[in-house]
Amino acid sequence: MKLPQRPNVVRYETTDSTNERAFAAIADGTAQHGDVHWADFQTAGRGRLGRQWRAGEGEGLLLSVILFPPANGPKPTELTVATCLALHDMAREYGIAGAHLKWPNDLLIGESKLSGILLETRGLDEAKPHFVVGIGLNVKQREFPREVTDERPVTSLALEGVALTREEVLALVWKRLAVRLEQDALTLFEDYTSSLALGDEVLVRSARAEVRGELVSLDSTHGVRVRTASGEVIDTQLEFVRELR
Ligand code: BTN
Repeated sequence: MKLPQRPNVVRYETTDSTNERAFAAIADGTAQHGDVHWADFQTAGRGRLGRQWRAGEGEGLLLSVILFPPANGPKPTELTVATCLALHDMAREYGIAGAHLKWPNDLLIGESKLSGILLETRGLDEAKPHFVVGIGLNVKQREFPREVTDERPVTSLALEGVALTREEVLALVWKRLAVRLEQDALTLFEDYTSSLALGDEVLVRSARAEVRGELVSLDSTHGVRVRTASGEVIDTQLEFVRELR
């Protein structure tokens, strides 16, 4: 799936959530494939699993990309993986050591979260699919409020030694995203898997069960395949995986 060479940006000083603004544009029929809704500050930024995404004014890259893929085009999991890989590519290109992905949507530096994504769709019509890919990326923060650090360790590009404007960062993220969105599922899952630690002991949590064991593979056919201590091989389809660690 192609992206426009340059993003068409709708910019807000303050808004509730850029994902919400993107859905409003889709609902009123003004949205185009590849449109970006970007805010300096969000009053109701959403994260996964009902969490909030918080960033001080002008400190983070807070944006949502509207995607209208072709029918029978990439599945939601592929879009999530492509976006995560684009962010991972960005971190590597900036020379940040220790960048790795955590299923399904986190970019970590060591143990600290640099970026998270939230892919959403509403009332999906399979003949005319639409998705909103929300990206939250910490850019300029030198410190974080307690309510953020109480949840988990976090970092920013500035803290990792990358002093760039959000515009400059968006330009690179856009380039990397355009490349990743044109790759096939096989390449995406291979690259995603290579950023995980195969053979390591992992915990796979879905709504139905928790499985502990050695990570054997991750792809769109078998989902997350794990070999338990008793030798049993258990597959969890990707759309059901809530947590992998
Ligand atoms: C997560 O790690 O839980 C996902 C965080 C996604 C946050 C971004 S910020 C821009 C966009 N608008 C939102 O309301 N959420 C996403």
